[in-house]
Amino acid sequence: MEQFTRRGFGRTILAGAAAYSINERLTAQEDCAPPAGTPVDFVLPKLQNLVRKSVAELTTNEVTRLRLAYQKLRDLTISDPSDPRGWMQQAHVHCWMCGGSGGDIHGSWTFLPWHRAYLYFHERILCKLLNDNSFRLPYWSWDDGNYRSVPAIYRTAPVGSSANSLYDPKRSSDAVAGKSLPASIFPAAQNPMNSANFAAFGGGKDGGGSLEFGPHGAIHMWAGTPGNPYADMGNLSLAAQDPLFYAHHCNIDRLWAEFLRRNPVSHANPTDEEFLTRSFTFFDENKKLVTIKVQDVLDPVPLGFSYRPGAKLSSNKRPKWTKLKYDSTTHLIQLPAPIAPSVVVTPRSIVVKDVQLPVTSGSYNVFVGDPPAAGADQSQAANYVGYIGIIVGEHHHEQKGSIVLNATDLFLQTAGAAGALLTFAAAGTSNGQPLEFSTAYLTEE
Ligand code: C2O
Repeated sequence: MEQFTRRGFGRTILAGAAAYSINERLTAQEDCAPPAGTPVDFVLPKLQNLVRKSVAELTTNEVTRLRLAYQKLRDLTISDPSDPRGWMQQAHVHCWMCGGSGGDIHGSWTFLPWHRAYLYFHERILCKLLNDNSFRLPYWSWDDGNYRSVPAIYRTAPVGSSANSLYDPKRSSDAVAGKSLPASIFPAAQNPMNSANFAAFGGGKDGGGSLEFGPHGAIHMWAGTPGNPYADMGNLSLAAQDPLFYAHHCNIDRLWAEFLRRNPVSHANPTDEEFLTRSFTFFDENKKLVTIKVQDVLDPVPLGFSYRPGAKLSSNKRPKWTKLKYDSTTHLIQLPAPIAPSVVVTPRSIVVKDVQLPVTSGSYNVFVGDPPAAGADQSQAANYVGYIGIIVGEHHHEQKGSIVLNATDLFLQTAGAAGALLTFAAAGTSNGQPLEFSTAYLTEE
């Protein structure tokens, strides 16, 4: 088990909420508007079904090809900024659909199918630029505990004498240093693969699912440069300017396929007409604007890719849940009696359910007991237990999400402080809105 240190729990960074920042570099929505066009219906091309591999499995030649693909994409933006297939235009497709005038496909059941379609067109464009139809996107297999740092091929700045097209300078220092994603991002209590059905996993008509608000959002936040606004991965409007975005989302897409494979009946995709016929437009590899429907992307095979079965987020851990007392006026959570440090440590988390997300981004420091006086460096306080960042896109719609705090060290720390209260204090960049929620639980694995 983890070595217990006084500040050991400072890394409870967290929050599975809609992890994005308001983007101030692109204040005008028009800045990421797509080029004009009259869409035609999508027609499935005849594609060979090839396996998408993990980044870790790529051969040397495949790494070279991947770098060449992104280099060509970046070059296209420079040679013809108006080409809808170029690097920046591709990133803007995502910006436009995250609260730009294009609407918002996040925070609902469109999250998975829209990103699958987006990656599909991205892959077709890269094939076209490479003139190689056998290219497939790789995924960053962060579901596997052995691959939780940003893959090295995305991290090295120059490769020999040339720039690394997979590199992005706007990442967090932990991401740059090759540190591992904190285990607190993957608590068994919030394992999306344990979701009972598609709605819980992938979202419903008006709310996001456990995959989006769990590891998806937390990894976005962890990977981007923190700030106000967050840079690149931590900001929906900019996220797709980091090539890591595509490897991250390829893994999200793979986990969707795996979730369905594990139980095709109870995990089945929604069959609502409204879901199936929801349509989106994209520029294809020939610069043609096409309309594609959710029902066109539910089976990856005709789209030319598939995933080998198996993902490492196991589904057999069933944590025990205990409801905690929560006072909705003071927004305080009553912690249960602490455990003595000699007790065998089992991973514990505090899960705060149905948090009404603030309408603008906010960050909060979490304390056992009273927060220190304002102005002090709160993270240095002895009773500091972690940080929550809740980041929303621009045109925000009312959303709910859950917050998970790694509580293992907290319970060792607070031994003797029976009945302590958990407080959330607005941190530096926050707008100070109180966090509203309805229920909190302690989970033990
Ligand atoms: Cu469209 Cu990971 O966000």
